[in-house]
Amino acid sequence: MVTIATTKLNSGNTIPVLGLGFWETPSNHAAEIAYAGLKAGYRLLDSAEAYGNEEGVAKGIAQWIAEDPKKHLREDVFYTTKIRDGFHGYDATKKALQGSLDKAKPIGYIDLVLVHSPQSDYEKRHGTWKALQEAVAEGTVKNIGVSNYGIKHLKELFAYPDLKIKPVINQLELHPWLTRTELVKFTKSEGIIVEAYSPLTRAKKFDDPDLVKLGKKYGKSPAQILIRWSLDKGFIPLPKTAHKERLASNLDVFDFKLEPEEVELLSGKNEDLKFCWDPTVYPLDNEKK
Ligand SMILES: NC(=O)c1ccc[n+]([C@@H]2O[C@H](COP(=O)([O-])OP(=O)(O)OC[C@H]3O[C@@H](n4cnc5c(N)ncnc54)[C@H](OP(=O)(O)O)[C@@H]3O)[C@@H](O)[C@H]2O)c1
Repeated sequence: MVTIATTKLNSGNTIPVLGLGFWETPSNHAAEIAYAGLKAGYRLLDSAEAYGNEEGVAKGIAQWIAEDPKKHLREDVFYTTKIRDGFHGYDATKKALQGSLDKAKPIGYIDLVLVHSPQSDYEKRHGTWKALQEAVAEGTVKNIGVSNYGIKHLKELFAYPDLKIKPVINQLELHPWLTRTELVKFTKSEGIIVEAYSPLTRAKKFDDPDLVKLGKKYGKSPAQILIRWSLDKGFIPLPKTAHKERLASNLDVFDFKLEPEEVELLSGKNEDLKFCWDPTVYPLDNEKK
């Protein structure tokens, strides 16, 4: 079984350098996939209230711990969930968070809560962050971060008068066709780690000739080359699969590294191509017409 290294967050806590995504993993399969993922070696599991599978993921983690409580430790698992846009604002976030905590009951606490996207307004985003900071103080949530935040959203957050905790993560769509150089540079310069979502291009670019060529050179699949590119860029990739047989192959990326010029070759494909949504451009209040 692969042992995945960890890296340090600005909170002082650690996070595995690769995770398993759960968007579109059916709720009735989430427990089974979470459990199988942990068996395969994944330790970072990325869910969200909006995915409808928090309960299943927590159940799968609890099952894995119960199997061998001396070796399968809760503190070795990193469970992420997210607050959806409709639950922005102090009161709504408190309530949503309680719902996520209730679903996470079998595993006691949540390692990371992300603001799923900045799509609301200043007051609501601010209220959400206040509620999340309180959850960290209470100990129910270990780390807090953001997702789909552009530079302007991060700057707005840094200027909150009651800011006590900076985000530990900005989770963004990233792959060779969407490299977001400026946003990644700014995020990293603030000590925030970048997680890469849709790192497999949602399986849309596996036939790219350079991916295929590099795959042949290293004896790897295009999916594995994409995950390796993400790691070599310093991102935490979150490949998703709901297929047990793909869980292990997507993890089999730690016995090779791309040459710097190969990372550059793939990065050169950037065309700002999004396979998902793009809230990083969502207007601030003063930009709304
Ligand atoms: N914060 C956000 O707004 C946001 C947005 C999107 C995603 N995310 C997170 O990031 C995770 C990953 O992103 P994603 O789900 O959009 O896309 P992705 O990981 O780029 O691609 C997933 C797709 O690739 C397929 N796949 C996986 N491994 C494969 C392999 N080895 N060979 C062939 N096909 C393979 C999967 O199919 P099977 O499942 O059938 O194997 C699925 O259709 C999500 O699950 C979620 O946790 C976050």
